[in-house]
This record gives sequence, C-alpha cells and structure tokens, in this order.
Amino acid sequence: MGKKYNIAVIPGDGIGPEITAAAIEVLQAAATRKGIEIITKELKAGGDAIDTFGIPLPQETIDSAKASDAVLLGAVGGPKWDNVEPDIRPERAILGLRAGLGLYANIRPAIVFDELKDASPLKNPGRIDFIIVRELTGGIYFGKNGTYQSGDRLPDGTVKGKVAFDTESYSEGEINRILKIAFELAMKRRKKVTLVDKANVLVSSRMWRSLAGQMSLEYPEVEFESLYVDNAAMQLIGRPSSFDVIVTSNLFGDILSDEAGQIAGSIGMLPSASLGANGMPGLFEPIHGSAPDIVGQDKANPLATILSAAMMMRTLGEDELSADIENAVKKTLAGGFRTSDITFCNEGENIKSVGTKEITKAVIDNL
Ligand code: IPM
Ligand code: MG
Repeated sequence: MGKKYNIAVIPGDGIGPEITAAAIEVLQAAATRKGIEIITKELKAGGDAIDTFGIPLPQETIDSAKASDAVLLGAVGGPKWDNVEPDIRPERAILGLRAGLGLYANIRPAIVFDELKDASPLKNPGRIDFIIVRELTGGIYFGKNGTYQSGDRLPDGTVKGKVAFDTESYSEGEINRILKIAFELAMKRRKKVTLVDKANVLVSSRMWRSLAGQMSLEYPEVEFESLYVDNAAMQLIGRPSSFDVIVTSNLFGDILSDEAGQIAGSIGMLPSASLGANGMPGLFEPIHGSAPDIVGQDKANPLATILSAAMMMRTLGEDELSADIENAVKKTLAGGFRTSDITFCNEGENIKSVGTKEITKAVIDNL
C-alpha cells in the first residue's frame, strides 16, 4: 500500500483559490502515479475568513492545520480589507499561523530555471541560485509595540506628543536555531553562509554577529561572511551569483526576499517553505501575493504554488514525487509555455502564451 498524506489547503484571497486549485490538481496527478494518496481539507484564512467569521484566523483553521501533515497556502489580503481594524487585517492570519505552528524558519530559494534565464532584469547576473533563510517568529514583527498617548512619560523620561513604537528583540536560542538551519543547509549546497545584519547600529544585530561567528567555527568547511543589510541590498544586485545561503532576521529577510524575487526575474516562479519545531506541519506558499488586479481572469502563474507543493512533498520525504513535479514544470517551460508574467523570456522562440488552466494542464501532461 502506498502512503497517505493529509494536506490542509488554505486558498485565501485574490488569485489564491486559482493557484492552489492548480497546484492540488498537479499534486494529485503526480501522487496517483506513485500510488500515494493525498487527502485535502480546505481551510479559511485571511479576507476569506473575515468575510465569513469576522476574523482572519479562526481557531478551527489553526487546529486543522496543526492536525495535518503539511499546509499549502495561496495568498491572503486585498484592497477589500484595507480599511479593517489593524488587529483583524488579513495579514494577521499569516502571522498567527506562523506563531501558532511555531514556524520559525522561512526558506526562500531564488533560483532561475535555465529556460527563463533572461528573466532577470540584471544584465549579466550569472547563475542565480541562493536561498534566503529568514527568521520568522521573532524580531520586530512579534516584539513589544504600542502607542503612548499625548502627554505620557517615555522610558527615557521625556514627555512628548503621541508616539508609536515597535521593538526588535531576539534571544540567543531564537538566533542559534535559525543559524543552525542555515549552516546545515549550506553543508548540502555550495557551503557558503552570509549573515545579514545591522551590527554597526543595532545591539540585537551584534548578538546575531557574535553567535554566527561562533557557530561558523563548528562548520570549518563553510565559508562565512557578514554584511550590513544596506550593503547586502547592494551586493545582491552587484554579485547575485556569489550568494549561497543568506541568513537574517524577520524584517531584513522580508525586505531582501522581495529584492531576491525581482533579481530572479519572476516572482510568479518562486516557492517557499516555513518550517517549525519537530512534529509540527510546515507551511508552503508562493512568495508572491494575492494579485487582486488579475483575479478570475485565468492569468495567474500557478508555477510558484506548484513548486511549493513540490517543496512540501520533499519535506515530507517524498523526494521522487517532488522531483517528478519539478521536472514536469521544467519540461513545460522548455515546451514554450508561458503565463503573461514570463512571456518575455526567450521571445521569438516557440513561445506559447497561455493562461493558468492551460499551463497547469501542460504540467500534468508532462508528468
Ligand atoms: C511575506 C509577506 C508577509 C510578511 C506579510 C503578508 C505579513 O510580506 O511573507 O513576505 O511581511 O512576512
Ligand atoms: Mg514580504
């Protein structure tokens, strides 16, 4: 008998339902060929949940997600919910899932398929193949925050008008566990780790730098460098092919991973994994958002979500199934199929400009 996996699917908002449906179709087709059973359960989160329950992340979604083997998510958010109270914004669903499932490690690969090598806006990017390992449940996203009302006393003793604040704080444990993931990942790759911080200004960054320096001694084979985040933003453009594993805090990772998506040229192509403590399901999602401008037009590129499903199956130990899906995506690109976000790649060759449904069908045909 083949294996069986329970996958929680959170379609979310905007193009989320279209791209998760595509990914599940591909996953089911690939799994059936391997005698593996995939049982899906759809859960609500984000604007979708706000519309039904008045809150972005119902307890039922957290409980069912926890009870699954892995979670596949489309995207959340959109202009419809821009004016809701900050505490019930769709984005709270993502943050709540990360915290609720203890997903402290966000793995964001920036890879360019050979077939899309002119996708990067950079002139001579070289071979782009690096991974951002972003801390995901600490730092300024989850630190103390609030506002002082006018006339309140500030911690430094001064009295001012209204003040709003967010704080960045990291414990040694939080830093070490994410560093460990980065060094272990580098050992399986090109053996290079770049720490990105702001140690010339921030106390918390100085702790990152000292802990990373110490850990690098345990990995003598790994080349280790540290960059200030402003410089890193520049070096990513200047020498993207020199990076292998980049490890950084929650906020810096958020910013640099969007930059990485652009460097790789196709935000519609990049998958991600958020992993937690042992025994907890991981969450897999495309790095792009809900693209409200193209909802329901059969235009969305489902490949990032399909590749996220492949990452999911690899994490579950199904390497072959995962490789089947990735190879089918490659074949589809080699066959000239392009959604509108990537049609400019290899222009003039045998390019077929297609929609979400047709490219999904092509991937399934190529399995
Ligand atoms: C991301 C997104 C989220 C983040 C938002 C939607 C809360 O930008 O996953 O990169 O800031 O982490
Ligand atoms: Mg982001």
